Amino acid sequence: MLDSKICKLLNIKYPIIQGAMAWISTAELAAAVSNAGGLGIIAAGNAPADIIKKEIEKIKELTNKPYGINVMLLSPYVDEIMDLVVAEKVPVITTGAGNPGKYMAALKKANTKVIPVVPSVALAKRVEKAGADAIIVEGTEAGGHIGELTTMVLVPQVVDAVNIPVIAAGGIADGRGMVAAFALGAEGVQVGTRFVCSKECTVHEKYKEKILKAKDRDTVVTGRSTGHPVRILRNKLSKEFEKLEKAGASTEELESLGAGKLRSAVIEGDVENGSVMSGQIAGLVKDIKPCKEIIDEMMKHLTKTYQSIGRLCK
Ligand SMILES: Cc1cc2nc3c(=O)[nH]c(=O)nc-3n(C[C@H](O)[C@H](O)[C@H](O)COP(=O)(O)O)c2cc1C
Repeated sequence: MLDSKICKLLNIKYPIIQGAMAWISTAELAAAVSNAGGLGIIAAGNAPADIIKKEIEKIKELTNKPYGINVMLLSPYVDEIMDLVVAEKVPVITTGAGNPGKYMAALKKANTKVIPVVPSVALAKRVEKAGADAIIVEGTEAGGHIGELTTMVLVPQVVDAVNIPVIAAGGIADGRGMVAAFALGAEGVQVGTRFVCSKECTVHEKYKEKILKAKDRDTVVTGRSTGHPVRILRNKLSKEFEKLEKAGASTEELESLGAGKLRSAVIEGDVENGSVMSGQIAGLVKDIKPCKEIIDEMMKHLTKTYQSIGRLCK
C-alpha cells in the first residue's frame, strides 16, 4: 500500500480509482480493477435499483476487495439507489451532478465512504461541509459530462480550499499523469478512458477501436449551449450536434438528439451515430490490456517518471 490518504481511506493498494462510466463500467470491469489493487466503480447511471442490485451481487462473486457505486444525483431512481447502497453496505460511493448532503447521515451509518465528483472550488467546499470523505476533482479533459476548468488549474485550487483528500480526474492514463496529479496536491487519481480499452471492459469492440484510432484533437464537446456539455469522439452524431447548435436549436431538440445515443455506441457498436464518450487522453491509448497490466504499468511508470524528474528539482 502506498503512503496515500486515499489508499488508507479506501483500504486499497494503489491510489487508482476506475472512473464510473454509464453503461460501460459494469461489475466485470470494476472487479478487475479492484482485484488489481485499485478501486473499481459500477456506474448506476439512470438504471433502476433492481439492475444495480444484480451488479452488486455479481461483483461480490468476482472480488472480495473494496468496490464502489457511482450514483447520479439527477437519476430518476436516485432515492432507491441510495436505499440499496445503505442496505448492501456498499464500501464506497462516488456521486455526480451535485451535492449528496441529504443522504449523508444514512450513508455514514452504513459506513459507506462518500466521494463526490466536483468541477469547481465552490462545490468542493460545499460537499466538504456536507461531510464528504474525499473529493474527485474532474477537469474538462475528461470524457463524458464535464465542467469548464482543466485538471491542471482546478486540482491545486481545490487542494488549497479543502482539508479532505483530493483525487484528480481528467487526462490521466499513465505514470506521468499520476506524478503530475500528485505534484498538484492530489492523493489519488481517477481514470476513465484508459480503462475502456481494457480486456475486461464489456463495451462493444468498435467503441474500443474508435478510442485506439483517436488522435489528440479528435474529441469535441457537444451540448455547451444547453449547459450540459459532454465530451465525445468526433463522428456523424457530433457533426449533427454542431450543425444544430450553430443553427440555434432549442435545448429540447438537442436533448432529443442525444437521447439513447451512449447506449447505441456501447451496446450496438454504432460508433458513427452513437455517442462515443471519451477523454482527450484517448490519443495516448494505444492498446487493449488486462486491467492488472494497465495498473502495474502505471505504477512502474510512476516510479520511473518520479526518478527522471529528480534532476530538474535539485
Ligand atoms: C464513456 C464515459 C462515461 C462516463 N460516465 C460517467 C458517469 O456515468 N458518471 C460519472 O460520474 N462520470 C462519468 N464519466 C467520467 C469518468 O468517471 C472519469 O471521471 C473520467 O473519464 C476521467 O477522465 P479520463 O476520461 O480523461 O480518464 C464518464 C467517462 C467516460 C469516458
